[in-house]
Amino acid sequence: IRVAVLYGGKSGEHEVSLQSAASVIQHLDRDRFDVVPISIDKQGKWQWNDLRLIEEAKGRALPILSDAPEMRLSPQADGRAALLPVIGSATSPRPIDVVFPVMHGPLYEDGAVQGVLELAGVAYVGSGVLSSAIGMDKDVAKRLALFAGLPVLPYLALAKRDYERDPARWAQAVREKLTLPVFVKPCNMGSSVGVHKVKQWDALDAALRDAFLYDVKVLVEQGIDVREIEVAVLEGEPLFVSVASEINANPKHEFYSYEAKYLDQDGATVDLPAKLDAAQMERVRQLANDAFVALECSGLARVDFFLDRKGGDFYFNEINTLPGFTSISMYPKMMEASGLPYRELLSRLIELALE
Ligand code: DAL
Ligand code: MG
Repeated sequence: IRVAVLYGGKSGEHEVSLQSAASVIQHLDRDRFDVVPISIDKQGKWQWNDLRLIEEAKGRALPILSDAPEMRLSPQADGRAALLPVIGSATSPRPIDVVFPVMHGPLYEDGAVQGVLELAGVAYVGSGVLSSAIGMDKDVAKRLALFAGLPVLPYLALAKRDYERDPARWAQAVREKLTLPVFVKPCNMGSSVGVHKVKQWDALDAALRDAFLYDVKVLVEQGIDVREIEVAVLEGEPLFVSVASEINANPKHEFYSYEAKYLDQDGATVDLPAKLDAAQMERVRQLANDAFVALECSGLARVDFFLDRKGGDFYFNEINTLPGFTSISMYPKMMEASGLPYRELLSRLIELALE
């Protein structure tokens, strides 16, 4: 089975993808799968990289080779898809059976790449166009979660155009609905890129303006004293729902920021399983199951929750349809801790894509 691993991408999570893909390629079962590493550089160019050089990366961030031949994806008469060289070169078409998009963020996790793969008629790992788009849009995901009866903390979604026309009016609307602190987040982003914790109202405008650099829609969410709980879900009948884990961001970071996630070695510690009582564990796993169903996910998703330290209630935060797969990422770890080793998890994901 020939698996094209797509990695890189033009999004703000390019670097995270390089690490996720390195880890995926390292753990794929080579007796079963022939790996074709296809990078997408920051300009959006697709290239067929040399697997041998990539293996030398040994799980560190994958390189993108500047002289790797540029490729495009094309449907073939036999119903499969092939990667074709863009300009005449020695490389011939490479038929592929399945694509594993190991990429994160806008264009790659939001249904855009999934749409291209649909057009090319190739099987791919993970959610389809609709649920990828829903999962990437934190506002729409929360609305659907609320509609399905999942608890969600109060928030406001602001459109860039509206805000820029009348900042005072929207600041007022935020202050009427929420209390300090609040979190400001680009609606369609991951890895906490562009996220700010606002502790004073006079800092709101700067936070919003920064978040609007990443997206035309921004969320302002109620900040409360919470624990961060995550659950991994894998498609199946019934769904395979992992034990929950807890992320303890180092208090020197104001929250579980991009820096705490990927740059700081001591950015966070993890409790796997999370220190929850049996009823809480059951409750959050059920909520993760319900979120996966409500948002119509396929393949895999990591569902992130807040647990209110005072009230003891769980709140749905967001769903990640292509969660991080880096060597320190929670999705494969939670699956492993629940009895599904990394290699088998990847095999299962590819089998699901081919079903
Ligand atoms: N957006 C990052 C990759 C995650 O959810 O793990
Ligand atoms: Mg996310």
